Amino acid sequence: MDIQRFRAEFPITRSKIFLNHAAVSPLPLRSADAMRSYVENKVKAQLTHDVDLGDWRKKIAETKGLFARLIGAREDEIAHIPNTTFGLNLIAQMLDYKPGSNVVTNTLEYISNVIVWLKLRERGVEVRIVRDVGGRISVDMLEKSIDDRTVAVAVGQVGWYNGFRHDLRAISEIAHERGAFLAVDGIQAVGNMKIDVAREGIDFLACGSYKWLLGPLGAGFLYIKSEHIDRFNPPILGGGSIDPEVSRRNIYERFDLYELKYSKGIGKYEAAHINDVAYIGVGESMRLLLDYGVENVEERIKRIGDYFISSLIEMGYELQTPLGEDEHHAIINFKVKDPDAVMDYLSRNGVVVSKRVGGIRVSPHFYNTEEEIEKFLSILKGIR
Ligand SMILES: Cc1ncc(COP(=O)(O)O)c(C=O)c1O
Repeated sequence: MDIQRFRAEFPITRSKIFLNHAAVSPLPLRSADAMRSYVENKVKAQLTHDVDLGDWRKKIAETKGLFARLIGAREDEIAHIPNTTFGLNLIAQMLDYKPGSNVVTNTLEYISNVIVWLKLRERGVEVRIVRDVGGRISVDMLEKSIDDRTVAVAVGQVGWYNGFRHDLRAISEIAHERGAFLAVDGIQAVGNMKIDVAREGIDFLACGSYKWLLGPLGAGFLYIKSEHIDRFNPPILGGGSIDPEVSRRNIYERFDLYELKYSKGIGKYEAAHINDVAYIGVGESMRLLLDYGVENVEERIKRIGDYFISSLIEMGYELQTPLGEDEHHAIINFKVKDPDAVMDYLSRNGVVVSKRVGGIRVSPHFYNTEEEIEKFLSILKGIR
């Protein structure tokens, strides 16, 4: 497929080598255009009361189906939420805990996926944090902490600073055997690899919009496996969480008659109004990814990453990314003596990356090219 057609969606490629999709990604032109025209139509509708926004509303609703396709879920298993962190909080707070319950997380997680679980200590839940060794955590290491009092095992599919890739299928088998759920932070994976929630045995997955999904900020998604949707209730409520009949009565009748009766289906997890403009944008970005094909995206990211890794090794850099087969994806981190000085030098030379945990984190997407990596490597050679 012609990659130039896709690169044209990202004007930043004309002036910079942008390898920072694990941070905040550039917005494709088509997403920005769609957001602009939606806002223009919305303003017109507000001024004249004579513009039908029905098609746009349909587009916003369709984003659930698009996200569902990216993770192998059903549309009615997807809720709109603002961001990953919101989703992780929701999952942690809605599960049932008894005296003696525990949850398992680990040291490779982004801070959100640790502290939302730490908060449960206030409810007497034991929080087990499995320590990584050299940037990796094997299934065996996690298994030792999971027992029949474990309520949830929390992992990110791809690690935020070094790209370590958990074997979710193996983890979910162990978790389920012991009666625990698998809760996944998906933001560093959805959009850069094929995910299949059924095959991996994922019970819950939260994902923001602005990294590998190439969307704007504020248009996240929460996957809840269908059989869990009615079994649990959201810890955060608003008009959307309540049965529409009861909601109407609650508004028009006396306060002392107010009732709490949850609405059916995934909608009860969407307490309040969403950021409509942002969902218009992320919808177009997901269409772009699906247009190229998520398997093709994954394959290209792997190829670019492999080339980059072997060149770094040849140049004598120490990698913080585990290098075993299927142990890493999309994010590569190499150590440098003075990260600030390296970042400064790279930025002066038009390279956009991040410094993380004493190294430089590089995160190319499918529209990056081997030529860009070559150029980046030759700039890097200028440092030594
Ligand atoms: C793995 C991971 N989880 C969560 C977050 C935060 O995501 P959000 O802003 O969607 O809550 C980040 C952001 O860097 C991340 O890398």
